Amino acid sequence: MNKAKAYQIGPVSHAERSEPGRVVEADLIAAEARLSSLLDSSERLIAEICHYLVDGGGKRLRPTFILLVYRACGGVDEKIDDAIDAAIALELIHSATLLHDDIVDGGMLRRGKPSAFARYGAGPTLIAGDYLFCRAFELCGRFEEHLVRTAAQACIQLTEGEVMEGRFRHSTAANLKDYIAVITRKTASLFSAGGRVASDLAGANGATIDAMWRLGNAVGLAFQMIDDILDIMGPEEKIGKPVGSDLRAGIPSLPVVLGIARNPELRTIFRNGWHLDGANFDRALDMLRAPEVVAEARAMAAEQVRIARELLAGLTPSPFRESLGLLIDEQVHREV
Ligand code: IPE
Ligand code: IPE
Ligand code: MG
Ligand code: MG
Repeated sequence: MNKAKAYQIGPVSHAERSEPGRVVEADLIAAEARLSSLLDSSERLIAEICHYLVDGGGKRLRPTFILLVYRACGGVDEKIDDAIDAAIALELIHSATLLHDDIVDGGMLRRGKPSAFARYGAGPTLIAGDYLFCRAFELCGRFEEHLVRTAAQACIQLTEGEVMEGRFRHSTAANLKDYIAVITRKTASLFSAGGRVASDLAGANGATIDAMWRLGNAVGLAFQMIDDILDIMGPEEKIGKPVGSDLRAGIPSLPVVLGIARNPELRTIFRNGWHLDGANFDRALDMLRAPEVVAEARAMAAEQVRIARELLAGLTPSPFRESLGLLIDEQVHREV
């Protein structure tokens, strides 16, 4: 299977769909059609930017996760439209954060193409991101208040995570605790909200809803940890952005935080203001790729996968639970 299309929906054929996504394939196809219809605007530029990003690929990991949690928690066909709307809302929010994130990070390449920021500039990209946030809340505004609040809380956390990360940029001050605090907010918050909303819509009891919230958190943490490793390992063709983008942007990613704790030379490079041009950049990248740093980072992601697996075991066995297990396991092995 083409790994780059692991979770992709829409143009992806059944044969290409990743194993976890297959059992919710019909739901994902419905979600994709609806998602696309929500990107249109009477202002041509807004629609163009939104379509440019959303139609430009993406693993659709969050919709797949939400639909699997919904089904694994016993969600029925009669209410699937609600679960599909929740899945789309979170993908819209995710898309908005990608637009904004590339402005903040100066990210010029996204999903293997020039980012919206590179192509349309900061102003239009910023507004298109706002537009996607609004579309998400338009879609889930009809849900019960506590569900809307869960989505809003995730957005609040996302913004706080991005600003918190900014505080640690180009600094050697961040430790592992800070790192976890950042990624809990900037990445895991959407997964934990997804787990909570999906299980709630499925009619699960309070304990299960809480377990799915924690499961989402663990999946999100593992996902971002692996993302940080992929950033330094590449290759660019697979990850769709230049290798070492986090490093160039001064982001205290997991390898950086682990690396500076172990390696005095790395600490000196970063303490001297992250002068990461030419040879210095290559040297820093080399040191971050040290087997012991990568192994420790991978072990941390594996621990989150173990936690997610443990929480999953509390659900009634079903093909959906099995597929959710595969999705969880894939987080440590993914290459894109
Ligand atoms: C990228 O997320 C942003 C992070 C949270 C690391 P994805 O890797 O899920 O992005 P797409 O949607 O598949 O491009
Ligand atoms: C991921 O941020 C979380 C978001 C809010 C998008 P990153 O900056 O780590 O993501 P990439 O590496 O640009 O996809
Ligand atoms: Mg960022
Ligand atoms: Mg970024």
